[in-house]
Amino acid sequence: MIPNLNIVPFVSVDHMMKLVLKIGVERFLVEVADYIEDDFRRWELFDKTPRVASHSAEGVIELMPTSDGEVYGFKYVNGHPKNMREGRQTVTAFGMLADVHNGYPVLLSEMTILTALRTAAMSALAAKYLAPAGSSCMALIGNGAQAEFQAVAFKALLGVDRLRLYDIDRTATEKCIRNLADLGLDMVACGTAQEAVEGADIITTVTADKQYATILTDNMVGSGVHINAVGGDCPGKTELHRDILLRSDIFVEYPPQTRIEGEIQQLAPDHEVIELWQVMSGAVQGRRDSGQITLFDSVGFAIEDFSALRYVRDQLRSTGLYQELDMLADPDETRDLFGMLLRAAQQG
Ligand SMILES: NC(=O)c1ccc[n+]([C@@H]2O[C@H](COP(=O)([O-])OP(=O)(O)OC[C@H]3O[C@@H](n4cnc5c(N)ncnc54)[C@H](O)[C@@H]3O)[C@@H](O)[C@H]2O)c1
Repeated sequence: MIPNLNIVPFVSVDHMMKLVLKIGVERFLVEVADYIEDDFRRWELFDKTPRVASHSAEGVIELMPTSDGEVYGFKYVNGHPKNMREGRQTVTAFGMLADVHNGYPVLLSEMTILTALRTAAMSALAAKYLAPAGSSCMALIGNGAQAEFQAVAFKALLGVDRLRLYDIDRTATEKCIRNLADLGLDMVACGTAQEAVEGADIITTVTADKQYATILTDNMVGSGVHINAVGGDCPGKTELHRDILLRSDIFVEYPPQTRIEGEIQQLAPDHEVIELWQVMSGAVQGRRDSGQITLFDSVGFAIEDFSALRYVRDQLRSTGLYQELDMLADPDETRDLFGMLLRAAQQG
């Protein structure tokens, strides 16, 4: 008999915050990036499918499943840009891991914070292969919930120590600068996106808008720059002018999903893209030369969430930062599910 078959470890928002703070945000990001890189290097093992999206006039709700044959994982995530104005998050998420061999969940976790961490870890990991050598200055356009995580990840993984920030809402930029004040970064609040990209080695766009937006126009992108385009991640929701895409080498997570959701939805369905797992496994070169414009057309793929959940699960035993959730019915006799209900009624 295995004890406590009814119990699933649950990582609440409170426990997630304690876990991140105990490990340290920078170390957490570096270690999640390592887990993502490990999983991207065994990419072919995974079940892969574009995420299942349910669109409405105001946003999207998505399910993101994957499995490596031993462990199954999925994330529930939404994207509702108008939420911010109503005091809600644009993006919220939770996720689960399960044992493939018996189907029992082995972890349930909040993923709103974890998504911001994994997205930033993925961005910085991609940039490690694609950004110009010695990159130290990043434009950060869109200073909402994801922004600081991006900044910290680029500092931790690439040593980026200068930020040029821009948001249409000045208070968002001020919030970002306040939150990052203790990190020793040189930060400049800019009045326009054009001003923000001046002198930047890396341009991160992480804005939220339900419709096609043009955060960057072609004239704003000089040769040799790396673009980390995070905010365009839904059909009809993009951030870059199409001409930029035509001048860039485009790197993606999972092409069938990115062609639906990414910046490349603006291009022909057979436009050449490079899969990041192939760059990470050494089969394909990342950045070739200093004049090349590289673009990570980030949309967020299920394997990154799987890696992040795997990382969190590996921390549970040593930290104890979880609750025991009575989540699975476990009758004394496996077929007597109804009897379990009757006995509960007798016990009042
Ligand atoms: N690629 C991924 O893996 C991934 C993961 C998470 C979130 N996202 C996307 O990232 C985006 C940002 O998410 P968030 O949680 O930070 O949202 P948020 O609503 O908290 O912040 C978005 C910010 O963008 C600003 N903004 C909107 N239009 C702008 C413009 N034209 N120029 C400059 N700033 C502008 C807003 O004022 C706001 O401060 C969303 O589109 C979200 O869907 C992508």
